[in-house]
Amino acid sequence: MSHAVPVPVLTIDGPSGSGKGTISALVAEHLGWRLLDSGALYRAVGYAAGMAGLDLSDVEAVTRCAHGTKIQFRAAPDGSATRVMVNGHDATDELRTETAGAAASAIASMPSVREALVALQLGFRKSPGLVADGRDMGTVIFPDAAFKVFLTASAAERAKRRYKQLKEKGLSVTLAGLQREIEARDSRDASRAVAPLKPAEDAVLVDTTGMGIDEVVAKVLAVVQP
Ligand code: DC
Repeated sequence: MSHAVPVPVLTIDGPSGSGKGTISALVAEHLGWRLLDSGALYRAVGYAAGMAGLDLSDVEAVTRCAHGTKIQFRAAPDGSATRVMVNGHDATDELRTETAGAAASAIASMPSVREALVALQLGFRKSPGLVADGRDMGTVIFPDAAFKVFLTASAAERAKRRYKQLKEKGLSVTLAGLQREIEARDSRDASRAVAPLKPAEDAVLVDTTGMGIDEVVAKVLAVVQP
């Protein structure tokens, strides 16, 4: 019997626009722990399925694709954002597009696709610790995590953040339209049958509405190092 102490995990779940990605990366860096961006895995499978010309509603074909897609995270040599390699191709930029997000959302509702990504996600749990960013990290993938956070922000605040990002990219969008989309996606994500977006019972809820990044990072770190 092994009495080894399990590798500590901090799960950070929440809806898109809650600041999860930014906060998770900063917290992982501060702790010196590894980072799992689970959303990137769903984006990578959606992207690979699209590249293979698959019908994204064909559960069998997409599941085969999820099992067969090689996804690797590679640290950028200059210290900039981690690159995501999909079947050996650097797909980092493509994975950030709205198209990749929509494809990810479609295939993430398939239980067999989620199942295909479990072992890969568990493999990220390596010493000295792991920060796992996603929707079901604390509820499904790492239910035994010692530290769990659920980040939220009001739909209005998330719409504002998204509006700013899209405007910077030169896209024409309206704030009201974005808020409506976010509210619709929230209710879809929270009501889906498999791994719905909801806080783990033992998660610490952090509402980031009106908070700056440093303040949120400090709150999350306080969960690990009270
Ligand atoms: O966090 P993100 O925007 O990169 O996620 C992309 C999509 O993948 C999003 O529609 C939700 C889904 N997802 C999921 O179902 N489970 C996760 N653990 C992470 C993301």
